[in-house]
Amino acid sequence: MENLISLVNKIQRACTALGDHGDQSALPTLWDSLPAIAVVGGQSSGKSSVLESIVGKDFLPRGSGIVTRRPLVLQLHKIDQGREYAEFLHLPRKRFTDFAAVRKEISDETDRETGRSKQISSVPIHLSIYSPNVVNLTLVDLPGLTKVAVEGQPDSIVQDIENMVRSYIEKPNCIILAISPANQDLATSDAIKISREVDPKGERTLGVLTKIDLMDKGTDAVDILEGKSYRLQFPWVGVVNRSQADINKNVDMIAARRREREYFANSPEYKHLAHRMGSEHLAKMLSKHLETVIKSRIPGIQSLITKTIAELEAELTRLGKPIATDAGGKLYAIMEICRIFDQIYKEHLDGVRTGGDKI
Ligand code: GDP
Ligand code: NA
Ligand code: MG
Repeated sequence: MENLISLVNKIQRACTALGDHGDQSALPTLWDSLPAIAVVGGQSSGKSSVLESIVGKDFLPRGSGIVTRRPLVLQLHKIDQGREYAEFLHLPRKRFTDFAAVRKEISDETDRETGRSKQISSVPIHLSIYSPNVVNLTLVDLPGLTKVAVEGQPDSIVQDIENMVRSYIEKPNCIILAISPANQDLATSDAIKISREVDPKGERTLGVLTKIDLMDKGTDAVDILEGKSYRLQFPWVGVVNRSQADINKNVDMIAARRREREYFANSPEYKHLAHRMGSEHLAKMLSKHLETVIKSRIPGIQSLITKTIAELEAELTRLGKPIATDAGGKLYAIMEICRIFDQIYKEHLDGVRTGGDKI
């Protein structure tokens, strides 16, 4: 199953490479058929913090106001051993082992596209992280939903962000990680509002409640976490991320996770839920769910697992397709691979419809 997810990852990377190089022809059908997880919610609800704690690394720009201004497509690859590193699609062959430099590059690359403004862009940044400490996942961090434009932003920004978010989460294969802060009334949650629009039955929405540590004294989140306030098919997960003060003091991830565990285990209200709270639990649940989705959507794809892109490339050569070694030729090859995959996938669907199993 791990392999199946990494095949999907490879194809997603190929799609983005194609998108960057202007040939969109193979993109839509393929991209739409691949599962990914999108993180949505209001500005400063804790989206980037949740993503970081799933990854177990400090690498995202975070803070108050609009920090995330382009979609970040993040692929996590589990490796057996060795030092963890990151790679950007726009900087091939450059390995980042310093995650502070990753954060800086995300910010610089955002500015390259939007200028150093508060403007947004729908052109994604593509980042891969290779680590022994992650589970195989593809996650998309998105700009936060807002209610008003601030100085330096066009009035259309509220709608623009909403449309961008919707374009990711309306796809039936998108798993929605809906982030709501516990220190605001759930009825005002932007995450719940937009996810309900595209997934009214809550079949592919995972509710995450952040900032539980910041709730008013005398109130708690038990009703929400037990699914009594807003029901979703999946159980709600509560998390405690680092506060701005923690970030300023450089509290590290390990310490933050330990504190989060202790928080749930030691508070009388949440003790009975502690086994299904926290970022580590969330990461495991996501990976498991992604597997289930892939399994149910593409039941016959297992036979493709062993075919790596390299093998497919070899196949193309055998077929006599002209493949140059320069970048353009490589992209052509990737595009062909995508087309082949798309075709196999469609044949597979036909097979399912007619009751047979073609792969
Ligand atoms: P985003 O705009 O939704 O991506 O939110 P960020 O992850 O950038 O977080 C916004 C601010 O809220 C940062 O200063 C975080 O430190 C803080 N924050 C996020 N989650 C929590 C939490 O669970 N508890 C506390 N105390 N602060 C949090
Ligand atoms: Na923010
Ligand atoms: Mg953010």
